[in-house]
Amino acid sequence: MAIRNIIKEGDPFLNKVCREVDKFDDKLAVLLDDMKETMKEADGVGLAAIQVGVLRRVVVIDVGDGPIELINPVFLEQSGDQECVEGCLSSPGQYGITHRPMHVKVRAQNRKGEFFELEGEELLATACCHEIDHLNGILFKSHVVRMLSKEELEKMK
Ligand code: NI
Repeated sequence: MAIRNIIKEGDPFLNKVCREVDKFDDKLAVLLDDMKETMKEADGVGLAAIQVGVLRRVVVIDVGDGPIELINPVFLEQSGDQECVEGCLSSPGQYGITHRPMHVKVRAQNRKGEFFELEGEELLATACCHEIDHLNGILFKSHVVRMLSKEELEKMK
């Protein structure tokens, strides 16, 4: 496994739209393993392949219950509303208030290409929305209603 470089906000690469994965091969497995290591090292909740320079619909998420791999994820359901404090590994140290669905249901494939469904609430729902946005070239700041100040971030520590 290897730590990959995370592309930062301001790079137009992050606004590209990612392509579906059609080969479930060793190269995909290496990408997923590297993404999980990179996310862990950066202390993140999620990471999309586009953030490490790969324009494929691949996401890893870990809200504290262990890593989840989502390949070609699509929403089946989104319901409710929650106010979130959201950040991104591509925008280090920056956080803003967003609104996201409270509950989501996602259909995705695993690294073998098998389909499965994932239901998430609260932080997991936010992470699914944030990461699937990345696959469509959308960054969290397009959802931010207000960025948090340095003073507010200090209070949250
Ligand atoms: Ni992000």
